[in-house]
Amino acid sequence: MDPVLLKDGIYWVGAVDWDMRYFHGPTFGTHRGTTYNSYLIVDEKITLVDTVYPPFAGEMLERIRKIIDPSRIDYIVINHVEIDHSGALPELMKLAPGAKIYCSARGKAGLLKHFYGEWDYRVVKTGGELSLGKRTLSFIEAPMLHWPDSMFTYVKEEALLMPNDAFGQHLASAFRFDDQVENKIIMEEAARYYANILYPFSGLVLKKLEEVKALNIPISMIAPSHGVIWRENPGQIIESYRRWASGEWLPKAVVVYDTMWGSTAAMARAIVEGIASENVDARLFKISVRDINSILTELLEARLLVVGSPTINRSYLSVLSPFLDDLAGLKPVNRLGAAFGSYGWSRGAVKAIEAKLEAAGLTLAGEGLEILWVPDAGELESCREWGRALARTVKTE
Ligand code: FEO
Repeated sequence: MDPVLLKDGIYWVGAVDWDMRYFHGPTFGTHRGTTYNSYLIVDEKITLVDTVYPPFAGEMLERIRKIIDPSRIDYIVINHVEIDHSGALPELMKLAPGAKIYCSARGKAGLLKHFYGEWDYRVVKTGGELSLGKRTLSFIEAPMLHWPDSMFTYVKEEALLMPNDAFGQHLASAFRFDDQVENKIIMEEAARYYANILYPFSGLVLKKLEEVKALNIPISMIAPSHGVIWRENPGQIIESYRRWASGEWLPKAVVVYDTMWGSTAAMARAIVEGIASENVDARLFKISVRDINSILTELLEARLLVVGSPTINRSYLSVLSPFLDDLAGLKPVNRLGAAFGSYGWSRGAVKAIEAKLEAAGLTLAGEGLEILWVPDAGELESCREWGRALARTVKTE
């Protein structure tokens, strides 16, 4: 693939990783692959904004070579230290050893501790500017979006924002721009990215959106470091981030469970029937056969999370632990929760799940529901009624 022109003299020179299936170790299923977006600005000073994951360093350098000799690069901006964006820096520095590296103070500390390179670092802060000749880069620190070192780079004359991970999607595609890829797929992946990476930083996302708005800068294009470049409708992703970070919700429920011999499964199905009978959408996920990242993405819209497990060893099935642990870390904004499950000679699952839901910041929508051994017809009706009552709490708020 050739370099792709974004604006006059500004090129995408990154890489498309069609095969990446897990990100951040095994925690994030990237079922549609990803891209590592690196941008070359050809001006009086030649500048590269971000690099790529190390296995793709050769591809990036080949794309740069189609435009200029990489040894001519004067400046390298590293918006974020994480290896998928800075990983090709050592290869690049072999070719352009005199290049100056622009990054945040934490970025410098992080790069030193990753690569141990004796390179020419230039630390920048919010409001700092760098003239390239015809164009000017302006820097905006963005700590914890999503690492302490993260920052955005803005090309003033082009109204082009390069916000690194923010507004990105793990999405491999043959095309680079939002108007060339099906919007439904882009937004599904943008939501999945937000829910699984940025959710815990929602307060900071809102503040950063306000800060950027107060700068009163035009934004004609957003070029993130993963996925497509927003040139047709950058406002769509900004508005989506505002909505997700604000905790806005729809009257929807997500029911997550697992089961030993079918009793909790029967309860789950009856609860979904009850919720749906109140015209509230409900999505049912058996955790052992579904992927956690998709369930967490559903929570970007759903107001209510209902979790069920039979009691074992006075607690819930351990298959639910990765989901509940991720939930506690991601802390979905402004959500309600409830717990249910079957039990035999002792209880414990419902209380343990409720504790986890509260630790994740959810507000309990009602008393938990427990049923001894196998639910009979009357008890299944109780499950439906419990579902109806939960649905009403969602509808009436
Ligand atoms: Fe895409 Fe935080 O790295």
